[in-house]
Amino acid sequence: MKNMFNILILNGPNLNLLGTRETNIYGKTTLSQLNDLLNKESKKLNINISHFQSNAEHEIIEKIHASKKKIQYIIINPAAFTHTSLAIRDSLISVEIPFIEVHISNIYSRETFRTHSWFSDISSGTISGLGIEGYIWAIKTAAIRLFKKNKNKI
Ligand code: DQA
Repeated sequence: MKNMFNILILNGPNLNLLGTRETNIYGKTTLSQLNDLLNKESKKLNINISHFQSNAEHEIIEKIHASKKKIQYIIINPAAFTHTSLAIRDSLISVEIPFIEVHISNIYSRETFRTHSWFSDISSGTISGLGIEGYIWAIKTAAIRLFKKNKNKI
């Protein structure tokens, strides 16, 4: 369909436990509730979104490789891989798909080891500490940028 952009929402390890995991930090919304929320938002924005969550680094890398020429924007919460994965960083560079890095918590106000990200300097934007709303701002931004780039209106 004309004007339909494809955005991939990628969630890293332990985010399948959203809603039950450290709820004081990550909140009580489950991953499937979050996905429903983002699906609703995507309809308003007239974009297609797909979801992928994995606890395995290689699966995330393979998903990124498979996105080449199919996905126009990636929203990624690499979770703990944020702080460790040069391999996921390289895969994002390889496919040349712009991406926004999202963190539910503010990684700069937590332990020092969380303040380094392998993604921020190559991202087209980073959102940290806005709770799950961060994903909504990210898809809105991605949609605006894609439509602007193609000189269309939302
Ligand atoms: C996180 C922050 C990371 O440091 C942590 O390992 C996560 C989630 C966030 O969304 O706030 O798993 O990416």
